[in-house]
This record gives sequence, structure tokens and C-alpha cells, in this order.
Amino acid sequence: MRITWFRTSVLVVVIAAIAFIGWRMVRPMNIFAVSPAFERPISTAKIPDILQSLSANECATCHKEFFDEWKTTIHSQAWTDPYYQVDLKFDGSQQICLNCHIPLDRQQENLVLGFNDDEKWDPILAPNPDFDHDLQQEGVTCNACHLREGKILGPRGSKNAPHPVEKIQSGNQICVGCHVVENDGWDTFFKFPPCGTVAEINTSKNHGSSSGEMSVDEISELGCIDCHMPLVERPVADGFEVKTVRRHLWRGGHDPDMVKGALSASLREQSVPMAKKREFTFTLTNTGAAHYLPTGTPDRHLVVSLRLLDGKGGVIDEETHTLKRTIMWRPFIVDLWDTRLPRGEPRVFDYSYSRKSEPDAKTLEVIVEYFLVDEKRRKRIGYDDKEATHYEVFSQRLKLAP
Ligand code: HEC
Ligand code: HEC
Ligand code: HEC
Ligand code: HEC
Ligand code: HEC
Repeated sequence: MRITWFRTSVLVVVIAAIAFIGWRMVRPMNIFAVSPAFERPISTAKIPDILQSLSANECATCHKEFFDEWKTTIHSQAWTDPYYQVDLKFDGSQQICLNCHIPLDRQQENLVLGFNDDEKWDPILAPNPDFDHDLQQEGVTCNACHLREGKILGPRGSKNAPHPVEKIQSGNQICVGCHVVENDGWDTFFKFPPCGTVAEINTSKNHGSSSGEMSVDEISELGCIDCHMPLVERPVADGFEVKTVRRHLWRGGHDPDMVKGALSASLREQSVPMAKKREFTFTLTNTGAAHYLPTGTPDRHLVVSLRLLDGKGGVIDEETHTLKRTIMWRPFIVDLWDTRLPRGEPRVFDYSYSRKSEPDAKTLEVIVEYFLVDEKRRKRIGYDDKEATHYEVFSQRLKLAP
């Protein structure tokens, strides 16, 4: 009798566990926790009197150079970006995506009246009478970062501006709202922000830090604006006094020069040559980014290829290494392993070949490529812009003297 009871309870537990895991395999995934920083779009109920519209073109009448720079950035394309558009549809066009990619309420077709659930994934929507289609195309526009409560946030609190100004403590505080998002839910075994943004930044002392993470006590120490908004001498507004201001450039994975500039690389033959083997080391170091390289969505990765070439450039042997953050998505999201480059830690790749079996070897070539999109994911979501998804960031050829 007892045994039967025992068996039945074990069976019930096993069935429950299978059902639970089955549900985890198919349920919609909540990659991140919705936080107050971006749970709703930014209100534009109050705007400075002098503004006719919220468009960046309006700011451009007095801040032309800031506008010209912003126009060249992915922030101005955060909505029109073809990869984002495909991914948004693939992910079921959720409202939450809009709050960082088109964050002003007037950029969104619907108003968020409230939420059906505690986690705030299921908003109560109603048509937005103030929806502005042109403003929507501007993505992360000037006012997404600068307009709060009818005032323009700025670094110095100028008294010369025709619009009300509010001084901010640090420019970095603007970045973290969209770029540093945590998830410490019971079923997550990682800190994982949406789109994987800058996963490795830690602003709270309670979290343990691991290599590659930026761990700071103050947002002002994060350095985002130091690296992503370099200094320049020019007027804050056209016709005003020249000051030291920050360029609105925000270069990242879409800019080969930004990525190249952050890598130090060297290819060398071992100094003591051996009779039978030739041995080489390729060393790659992230010397330019405070966070991992690459950072951003887990799609982003580096591929290091070492190739042994014959006299005609034909490939005799090839070895490739992928530097990537690998995540298990179901039934639980778990960071499996991470081979990206933490700041300042040299990564060494050894390569060797036997003189006897490769008598034709004439050159050793190393190529490092940066990938914006993972090839499997690109196919899965149906994004077909193959051209724009990767580029070379380093290459070197070593002539093999006999
Ligand atoms: C992604 C966020 C973001 C966007 C978008 C953005 N800015 Fe800024 N802007 C900042 C930050 C951060 C600072 C403060 C930098 C610092 O601390 O010096 C700033 C500073 C400024 C300043 C003040 C410069 C100074 O030193 O006094 C002006 C003017 C300005 N932005 C205009 C614009 C205009 C015009 C646009 C749109 C064409 C724009 N910004 C878009 C984040 C942004
Ligand atoms: C009619 C001209 C005009 C327009 C339009 C205008 N600004 Fe300004 N803005 C100024 C002037 C003038 C200053 C102060 C310049 C100075 O102190 O050297 C200023 C200062 C700023 C500052 C710096 C604030 C600080 O901390 O000192 C920011 C940021 C800024 N503007 C953003 C914007 C944005 C964003 C828009 C569009 C929504 C905008 N401005 C529209 C003229 C304008
Ligand atoms: C309103 C939300 C928001 C804010 C605030 C914001 N960003 Fe972004 N940022 C985005 C989005 C969305 C993208 C990606 C757009 C895309 O690729 O479609 C992005 C992309 C970037 C990129 C990547 C460029 C590339 O080539 O892929 C950099 C770098 C960046 N932001 C830096 C910053 C910095 C520094 C700040 C603070 C001054 C900041 N951002 C503030 C939303 C924001
Ligand atoms: C908390 C703010 C936030 C939310 C919410 C958000 N994103 Fe993003 N997204 C970003 C930032 C910041 C970046 C740029 C950094 C990066 O590459 O991760 C980005 C980048 C992306 C990119 C890469 C674009 C490129 O050009 O390579 C895609 C695609 C994307 N987001 C899709 C989505 C989708 C779909 C959703 C909704 C499920 C979403 N995002 C929700 C902030 C956000
Ligand atoms: C010491 C300089 C440095 C600091 C500090 C820094 N970054 Fe970066 N960042 C870089 C470099 C270099 C790259 C390009 C290589 C890469 O993708 O890692 C980059 C890339 C990025 C990207 C592009 C990701 C993508 O998907 O293409 C984003 C987003 C970003 N940084 C955001 C931030 C934010 C937010 C902060 C502050 C919390 C910050 N960075 C601090 C240097 C820096």
C-alpha cells in the first residue's frame, strides 16, 4: 500500500515536472524585467513654449552641428533600422520594444493606459490622438534624451537658453535608462538586459563582479560619454560662446573604425624555432572598450581565422575561433559560456604546423572579423541583408622565411 502511494506521488511529481518544462519550452519568453525606467513611453504633455514641434529639425535651427552628428548615428535609425524592423515583427511587435526604440509617447500609435499584469508585459492600449508619424521615424531623437517634464536636460544649466533647462549630474545617467537593464527574476541565471545591450555593467555594490564587467559605485564613473561622445570646442547653440561640448557620435558595432581602434593585435613566431615544428602565437586584446568586446546583443561576435597559405595564396590549413556570448534560451535562460574579450586581458591563440608535412607553406595569415548578426538567427528571423552584417577589423600576413 505504502509503496503504491510512493509510486503515485513520484509519478505525479515527474508528470508535473515534464509539464512545467514543456510549458517553458513554448511559452513566450520574457528576456528582461520591465523596470520603471522604461515601462511607459516618455510623456510629452509638457513642452517648452518656444517649440513648434518635438522634431529634431526644430532643435537643428539652433543646434545645427549636434543635429548633423546625430543624423549619422544608429540612434536616429533606431526605428527605421531594417534589422530592428524584422526582429520586432518576429518577436510579435510587442509594445515594450517601442519604449527604447521610439521612446516619446507621440512616436507611438497607442497610449499605454495601464497594465493587465504585475510584470507589466501586457499593457492596456488605446489609440493615440497625438501620434506623429514623422517623429516616429526619428527613433531615439533629441527629445528622447533631453525632454523631461517640459524642461531640456543639459550638462550645465545655461541661463541663455530660450527653453527651460535642467542640469543633470552626469550625462551617463541618460544612457543607463536604455542600455543597462537587469533581470533578477527567480528563473533567470544571468543579468540580461534587453537586446543584450551592455550586460556587463554593474551599478550596484551588492552584485559580485566578474572579469569583463564594469563595476562602479557612481553612474558618473561609467565613462559611457567619455568614449562614446568625444569632446570638441564649439558653441552650444549657433552664434553663442565657444565651449567644450560633447560630440553626438555614439559609435559602436556599426562603425568598423570604432571596433578596430579598441583592438590591439600581434602575430609572432616563437623565438626558438624547432627542427620539426613551427609555432606561432596570435594575441588579441580589448584595449579600448571598458565593457566586453563585442558588447550589445548576443548576436555580435568576432571570428579569428588563422590560415596557412602556399606560394599561390591557396589555403593549406585553416583554424577558426568564435568569440561570443552563448546563451541557452529554453527551458531556462542560462549564460552558458562567454569567450568575448574582457577589457585588458590578452587572448592568446597558438598555431603550429609540421615542416615535414607542409613543405609548401609560404605565408601565415590571420584575419579577425566582426559580425553584427548571427548567421543562424539572421536566417531564422528572415533578415536578408547579408552584406551589412560583418566586416574585417584586423588582418596580417607573416612571410615564412625558410
Ligand atoms: C542618446 C541621447 C542623446 C540624444 C539622442 C541627443 N543628445 Fe544631446 N546630449 C546628450 C548628453 C548625455 C549630453 C550631455 C553631455 C555632457 O555631459 O557633456 C548632451 C548635451 C547636449 C547639448 C549641450 C552641450 C553642452 O555641453 O552644453 C546640446 C546643445 C545637445 N545635447 C543638443 C542635442 C540635439 C540638438 C540633439 C538632436 C539632434 C541631441 N542633443 C540628441 C544626449 C543626447
Ligand atoms: C531658438 C533657438 C533654440 C532652439 C530651437 C533650441 N535651443 Fe537649445 N539652446 C539654445 C541656446 C541659446 C542655449 C544656451 C547656449 C549657451 O548657454 O551657450 C541652448 C542650450 C541647450 C542645451 C544645454 C543646456 C545646459 O545644460 O546648459 C541643450 C541640451 C539644448 N539646448 C537642447 C535643445 C534641444 C534638444 C532642442 C530641441 C528640442 C533645443 N535645444 C532647441 C537655443 C535653442
Ligand atoms: C531612449 C533609449 C536610449 C538612450 C537614452 C540611449 N540609447 Fe544608445 N541606443 C539605443 C537603441 C535603441 C540603440 C540601437 C538602435 C538600433 O541598432 O536599431 C542604441 C545604440 C547605441 C550604440 C550602438 C551603435 C552601433 O553602432 O551599434 C551606442 C554606442 C550607444 N547607443 C550609446 C549610447 C550612449 C553613450 C548613451 C548615453 C548618452 C545612449 N546610447 C543613450 C537606445 C538608447
Ligand atoms: C530597455 C530598452 C530596450 C528595449 C525594451 C528593447 N530594446 Fe532593442 N535595443 C536597445 C539598445 C540600447 C540597443 C543597442 C545595443 C545593442 O546592440 O544591444 C538595442 C538593439 C536592438 C537590436 C539590434 C539592432 C542592430 O542594428 O543591430 C534589435 C534587433 C533590437 N534591439 C530589437 C528589439 C526588440 C524586438 C525589442 C522588443 C522585444 C527590443 N529591442 C526592446 C534597447 C532596447
Ligand atoms: C573605455 C571606453 C568605453 C567606455 C567607458 C564605454 N564604451 Fe561602449 N564601446 C566602446 C568601444 C571601443 C566599442 C566598440 C567595440 C565593442 O562593441 O565592444 C563600444 C561599443 C558599445 C556599444 C555597441 C554595441 C553594439 O551592439 O554595437 C554600446 C551599446 C555601448 N558601447 C554602450 C556603452 C555604454 C552604455 C557605456 C557606459 C555604461 C559604455 N559603452 C562605456 C568603448 C567604451
